[in-house]
Amino acid sequence: MVLAIEFLDSRRHIRSDFCCGEESLDSYLCKQATQDIKRRVSTVFVLVDEPEMNVFGYYTLSSYTVNVADLEEKLAKRLPAYPALPATLLGRLAVDNRQKGRGFGELLLIDALKKSLEASQQVASLAVIVDALNEKAASFYRKYGFISFVREPMKLYLPMKSIEELF
Ligand SMILES: CC(C)(COP(=O)(O)OP(=O)(O)OC[C@H]1O[C@@H](n2cnc3c(N)ncnc32)[C@H](O)[C@@H]1OP(=O)(O)O)[C@@H](O)C(=O)NCCC(=O)NCCS
Repeated sequence: MVLAIEFLDSRRHIRSDFCCGEESLDSYLCKQATQDIKRRVSTVFVLVDEPEMNVFGYYTLSSYTVNVADLEEKLAKRLPAYPALPATLLGRLAVDNRQKGRGFGELLLIDALKKSLEASQQVASLAVIVDALNEKAASFYRKYGFISFVREPMKLYLPMKSIEELF
């Protein structure tokens, strides 16, 4: 078995029995992801086993804006007082139940951060933002250095500068 992370291709990737335990993330992959790609709302990347092409996990990326007042003071004080600042949204990240605990969540997260960093060298972005569905998900992201927004603890960010240092 060879693993690969690829741009979602509905003709090649098998996602019908994907199940991560969060119904909204399962149905997004099967019903919404292709539409979002077509409408240029998000990009969707899947972790697949080759040559079978079963989807083991996926994540989505889009452009986003943040309000400087929502960031912790240490970062905010170094930023200009524009009403909205550019960021990258890692909107969804999920691993199939049968594949959990094998490092695939980390693999997908690192890949998403790397792609976000590369894209930010062409179109500026000051951080990667995630919306954690619950406290378990938030603690997964905190493990990798994500910091909660001041007023919304389930929304977290990792400054692009920290991502650059990571790589
Ligand atoms: C969160 C999720 C993506 C993790 O995927 P995974 O493949 O099981 O995670 P990994 O095997 O790569 O684990 C990486 C590390 O995170 C830790 N971890 C995994 N799931 C965790 C969780 N829910 N909470 C806290 N830490 C977690 C692991 O213990 C591991 O740490 P270690 O290396 O110190 O042991 C997966 O559990 C999932 O799909 N959950 C449902 C959807 C969800 O909540 N997505 C995130 C919010 S949108």
